[in-house]
Amino acid sequence: MLTCKHSKFTLPPQVTYLNCAYMSPLLKNVEKVGVKALRRKRNPTKISPADFFTDNEKLREEYAKLINCSNPKRIVMIPSVSYGMATVTTNLKIQKGQNIVIAAEQFPSNYYPWKRLCDENSAEIKVVSAPKTLESRGKKWNEEILAAINSSTAAVALGNVHWADGTLFNLEAIRKETRDVGAWLIVDGTQSVGALPFDIQKIRPDALVCAGYKWLLGPYSSGLAYYGSVFDNGKPVEENWINRNKSEDFSALVNYEDEYQPGALRFEMGERSNFIAVPMLSKAIEQLNNWRPDRIQEYCHSISQKGIGLLRNAGYWIEEEGYRSSHLFGVRLPQSADLQKIKEALTKKKIFVSYRGDSIRVAPNVYNDESDLLKFAKTLISVS
Ligand SMILES: Cc1ncc(COP(=O)(O)O)c(C=O)c1O
Repeated sequence: MLTCKHSKFTLPPQVTYLNCAYMSPLLKNVEKVGVKALRRKRNPTKISPADFFTDNEKLREEYAKLINCSNPKRIVMIPSVSYGMATVTTNLKIQKGQNIVIAAEQFPSNYYPWKRLCDENSAEIKVVSAPKTLESRGKKWNEEILAAINSSTAAVALGNVHWADGTLFNLEAIRKETRDVGAWLIVDGTQSVGALPFDIQKIRPDALVCAGYKWLLGPYSSGLAYYGSVFDNGKPVEENWINRNKSEDFSALVNYEDEYQPGALRFEMGERSNFIAVPMLSKAIEQLNNWRPDRIQEYCHSISQKGIGLLRNAGYWIEEEGYRSSHLFGVRLPQSADLQKIKEALTKKKIFVSYRGDSIRVAPNVYNDESDLLKFAKTLISVS
């Protein structure tokens, strides 16, 4: 079992930070790498042509290890989830009468690209709402998603967990259904990869798109995407020099090349060799590989049990285990509670969470401990 890693970060001691789903704090060792990388630009003679490639290779290898992907060349750097999704919608052929299945209230970067694709092709976007009832909510939502997939489905796009309340989507079952009807499975891993195990070889999604600044503990504007074999020979959203074959030879760059780099590397974003962000993200993922997502999940579970127990006894609703994650979960208020009062009380005590839809989103990580969750729970109970 992991122990609390608070000392590895520089969070102010008076702050109770339960908001990694908003943005992670910075690891001290990642900060060190970032400062060193920033200083490197003082003297450009220290940045060689080979450096445009080697740090990205290391990053791909670290991420491949984290998601159990056997070919790191299927992994590329993206500036945002919307960019990674644009690559997907550029390459998915969809016809009139077909549909895209998504869960309701997904993050906008995993909605607008599908909306445009469907609008432009007279296809249907099928939004599967959460059940109205709280009884077996996660179970029923999963069943309804499975039921929405049919022979006209071109793709299913959703997260491993819902970003607002941590509802777990059963990707193995969804993958099976999509395979049966020949649809793509596109996963937004932003709110899960890093804190919840994700296994490419088990799920076999067609794409896994992930922002880097939350559970990957990396800097902003630096995400990662995996693209499976359906993207082979696909069309990138932009044409940049480094994605072309032999771009390692700087003196021959204007001998324009028709071929791209192998695997999915044609989808790398322009200027993907970010000399500051790439080594930082790489270091952060190295740390996650060392801690391991299964152990992070187990740790978040163990520190939240008592707090959740107190809240349930006081009439708050939290999804059953098995249908939600432990690193991100929603807390729904009893009728007697006043959200405004709760917000004020939490702010006063410097307890940071997010408010999404009709639930409070709680997102602990390894720098938290049991007392943080108890403090959160007792604060809610004291004003309800
Ligand atoms: C599920 C999910 N996807 C994506 C993002 C970020 O999207 P983008 O990188 O396009 O800004 C967020 C941010 O909160 C998110 O929660």
